[in-house]
Amino acid sequence: MQIWLMMVKRRTFPLLIASALAVMVYFIFTLPRSQPGNHQHLYPYHVSDQSITPVNDTKHFMVGAYKEHRLEGSSVRIISIFRRDSVQPLYCVFYCGSHWANGTKAEVQMHSDHFGFHFVTTDVLCPNLPDCNPSHVTLATQADAKLAQNQTFLRIQNLVKREEEEFQFNFTVCWSNLFGDYNNVLQVTQTLEMYKLLGVQHVVVYNTSCGPDLERLLQSYTQEGFVEVVPWPIDQHMNPSRGWQPSEHGGDIHYYGQLTTLNDCVYRHMYQSRYVLLNDIDELIAPYQHQTLPQMMDVLQRQNPKAEVFLIENHIFPKSQFEPSGRFERPRWRDVPGINIMEHIYREEPDYRIYHPSKMIVRPRAVEQTSVHSVLRNFGQTVKVPPNVCHIIHVRVPLRGGLTKKELHEDKRVWDYEKQLVPNVDKALEKAGLLRM
Ligand SMILES: *[C@@H]1O[C@H](CO)[C@@H](O)[C@H](O)[C@H]1NC(C)=O
Ligand SMILES: *[C@@H]1O[C@H](CO)[C@@H](O)[C@H](O)[C@H]1NC(C)=O
Ligand SMILES: *[C@@H]1O[C@H](CO)[C@@H](O)[C@H](O)[C@H]1NC(C)=O
Ligand SMILES: *[C@@H]1O[C@H](CO)[C@@H](O)[C@H](O)[C@H]1NC(C)=O
Ligand SMILES: *[C@@H]1O[C@H](CO)[C@@H](O)[C@H](O)[C@H]1NC(C)=O
Repeated sequence: MQIWLMMVKRRTFPLLIASALAVMVYFIFTLPRSQPGNHQHLYPYHVSDQSITPVNDTKHFMVGAYKEHRLEGSSVRIISIFRRDSVQPLYCVFYCGSHWANGTKAEVQMHSDHFGFHFVTTDVLCPNLPDCNPSHVTLATQADAKLAQNQTFLRIQNLVKREEEEFQFNFTVCWSNLFGDYNNVLQVTQTLEMYKLLGVQHVVVYNTSCGPDLERLLQSYTQEGFVEVVPWPIDQHMNPSRGWQPSEHGGDIHYYGQLTTLNDCVYRHMYQSRYVLLNDIDELIAPYQHQTLPQMMDVLQRQNPKAEVFLIENHIFPKSQFEPSGRFERPRWRDVPGINIMEHIYREEPDYRIYHPSKMIVRPRAVEQTSVHSVLRNFGQTVKVPPNVCHIIHVRVPLRGGLTKKELHEDKRVWDYEKQLVPNVDKALEKAGLLRM
C-alpha cells in the first residue's frame, strides 16, 4: 500500500496504466492470430499499381476491374485490351477478402470498333461466385487459384453502389488521351476555365506524353484538384497508332487506345459523377440557351426523363479565320503557346449530307460500352440535342477549307463569359508560371 502511494506521489501511476493497456492491446491483437488456420493475408501478394497490366502468359492487358451492379450473373467487369488474333480460354481468379477462389470461365466481349487494328478494347465479364465477396481479381490461363496466386491482381473498384446524392461530382469531363509533344497551352487553359464557369467540377485526362508547357499547366491544375491525370504508358506495351486507319497510320491500336481510356473513365466515375462528358482536349461542350451545364441538363432531363445519353453536335471553328477587331489579341498571351479560341469565332455550317459526328454527355450508370461518337451498349434512351441548345466549339484546322468568311457563321458564345474568363485564364497561367511579366 505504501509502495502504491509512493508511486502515485512520484506521478508514475499513469505510466503503470499505460503499460497495463499495452499488455491488453498486445493480447487482443495476437491471441486470435495465433490460432491455427487463421494466417490470412489481407491482400494478394501482388496488386497492380499500373493503369496497364499484362495478363500472364497471354498477349492481352488488363486496365481496370469494376464491380458490376447492373447485370444478373456477372460480378466483375475487367476493362481490357485484347489482341484479336490470340484469344484463348481465360479464367477469373478472385481473392475473396479472406480466401482464394478457383477460377471460373471468363466471358470475353471484344468491342465492335477495332478499325482493323490488332488490339481492341475488350470487356471481360467474371461470373458471380457463391461464398465470395471479391476484393481483387486477375485473369489466368488455368483455373487453379494456387497457380495464379503469384500473378498480379487488380483491386476491384466500384464495390459500393452509391446513390446520386452521395456523388462527389455532378459533371466530369473525360478527355481521351494525350500523346506526342502536344503543347496547346492557351486553348487548354481557356477550355478548362470555361468548363469551370459552366459548372464542371472534375476533368480527367489519360497521359502518354505531352509538351513541356502543357506539363506545367496540368501539374498546376492537378495540385489545385480540378484536373486528374491518369498515367497511360501504352507505348511501353505496343506501338500505338496516331490515327484511326491501320493502312494509313500504322500501329497496333486506334489513337493510343482512346477507346479503352473513354470506357475506363466512364466506369471510374459510374458512382462518382452524375454526368460524364466524353470529348477531346480541343473541344468545348457549350450551352447556348443556358448559362451553365447543370441548368441545361435540368431542362433536357425534364423534357426527356428516360434519356441517359445526350448527343452533342461537333462544330468546327477554323483556326485560320481571325476576328478582325483584334479585341482578344492580348499582349499577355502572345508568348503562351497554343491557340487563342477567343480570336476564332467563325463556325462552319456542317455538311449534313455526310456523316456528322457528335460527342456525348452520358449518365455513366446507363453505359455498358462506349465508342467515341456513340455508345455501343447502354440501358437507357439516346437523345440528339439540337445545336441551338448545345454544341461543341472545336477550334482547329478547317474541315471545309473552301469556305470563305462570308460563308461561315459568327458565333461569339465564349465572349459572353469574357468578364470572368479572361482574368481567370490569366490567373491560371500565372499560377503555372507560364506568363512572362
Ligand atoms: C482448385 O482446383 C485445384 C486443381 O484443379 C483442386 O485441386 C482444388 O481442390 C480446387 N480447390 C477448390 C477449393 O475447389
Ligand atoms: C509463390 O511465391 C511464393 C513466395 O515467393 C513461393 O514460395 C511459391 O512457391 C510461389 N507459388 C507458385 C505457385 O509459384
Ligand atoms: C508469368 O508468366 C511468365 C512467362 O510468361 C512466367 O515465367 C511467370 O512465372 C508467370 N508468373 C506467374 C506469377 O505466374
Ligand atoms: C450537384 O447538384 C445538386 C443538385 O443540383 C446539388 O445539390 C449539389 O450540391 C451539387 N454537387 C456538387 C458537387 O456541385
Ligand atoms: C505525362 O507522362 C509523361 C511520360 O510518362 C511524364 O513524363 C509526364 O510527367 C506526365 N505528365 C503529367 C502532367 O502527369
